[in-house]
Amino acid sequence: VKAYLYDKKAKPSPLVLSEVDAPRPAGGQVLVEIRAASVNAAEWRSMQLGIVPKSRIYGADISGAVAEVGLGVKTLKVGDEVVGDLSGSGSGAFAEYAAVPESALTRKPASLSHETCAAFPMAAVTALQALRDAGGVGPGMRVLVNGASGGVGSFAVQLAKHWGAEVVGVCGPGNAERVKARGADAVIDYRSEGLDSRGGAYDRILAVHGDQPLSRYKRLLAPGGRCVIVGGSLSQVFRGIFFGPLLSLGSRKLKTLTARPSPADLSFVLGLAAEGKIAADIEKVWDFTELPAALDYVRSGHARGKQVIRIR
Ligand SMILES: NC(=O)c1ccc[n+]([C@@H]2O[C@H](COP(=O)([O-])OP(=O)(O)OC[C@H]3O[C@@H](n4cnc5c(N)ncnc54)[C@H](OP(=O)(O)O)[C@@H]3O)[C@@H](O)[C@H]2O)c1
Repeated sequence: VKAYLYDKKAKPSPLVLSEVDAPRPAGGQVLVEIRAASVNAAEWRSMQLGIVPKSRIYGADISGAVAEVGLGVKTLKVGDEVVGDLSGSGSGAFAEYAAVPESALTRKPASLSHETCAAFPMAAVTALQALRDAGGVGPGMRVLVNGASGGVGSFAVQLAKHWGAEVVGVCGPGNAERVKARGADAVIDYRSEGLDSRGGAYDRILAVHGDQPLSRYKRLLAPGGRCVIVGGSLSQVFRGIFFGPLLSLGSRKLKTLTARPSPADLSFVLGLAAEGKIAADIEKVWDFTELPAALDYVRSGHARGKQVIRIR
């Protein structure tokens, strides 16, 4: 079967389309025939940090159908359509087949396509855990999403609106209409406008992208406010981890999120999508042979919404 094997030295891309033996499902695992996957910033960031999956096959988000079940599998059978985030179980989405623990998968809503479902796992669950668990976002809260036009940001804007918040999205000049179309009440262009004039304006901040001093985020928070650092530059993330707790003395808090794959949370966001309450913001569906180009595009830092890969 075909899979992209990582080879750091390969040119022009470290992702090399290869023929490999089909994986076999171990106990508690199922073999998934992957119909669609999607690319996350996490993949190139792992490459940058030298974190390589044991199988050498990157990729987290999958939507597909069960092709074989291993011993002891209780809830799934051949033919069931499933969605999952493989980042907690060895990765391997950039392939035609993956052996996946039954416990890492959730059922695909029948009304949504594989391409739509593949856009959700990591980005939507990260947005959910940032807003609901770390942020406690609720009705009437003023929420700033810095980095509103990418994968995580596009879901964050919609989920915050779904819970009745007033949402301001920060993005580049070409993405204002896209972010408003997802429901943002207002948009700030990070290239032409500063954030500094809005001190104390927000109850919650989601720092998804960018590289801002933590003191600036703190100034933007209203008393009792919380800033959740999800991503951005490496220095942004490390500053959040090391200095966030120090700057959280007083009522304004800064915390760093480490999202965890959760089939229950994935099922929740897919349910909202099936009810038409949120939608995947898919910029492009790429062919499997274009995966290295899709990864390069996401690596540029300016991809819009999600990049989905059609596999079979
Ligand atoms: N904490 C966790 O557990 C966790 C989980 C998943 C992801 N992450 C991290 O979260 C971040 C977002 O991931 P993603 O998959 O959503 O990324 P993505 O889809 O690649 O994000 C691309 C978007 O970021 C915007 N952007 C780039 N520079 C910006 C800036 N300076 N200010 C505001 N927006 C900017 C771009 O808009 P413009 O073109 O308009 O600039 C583009 O639309 C990454 O750093 C990722 O590593 C963390």
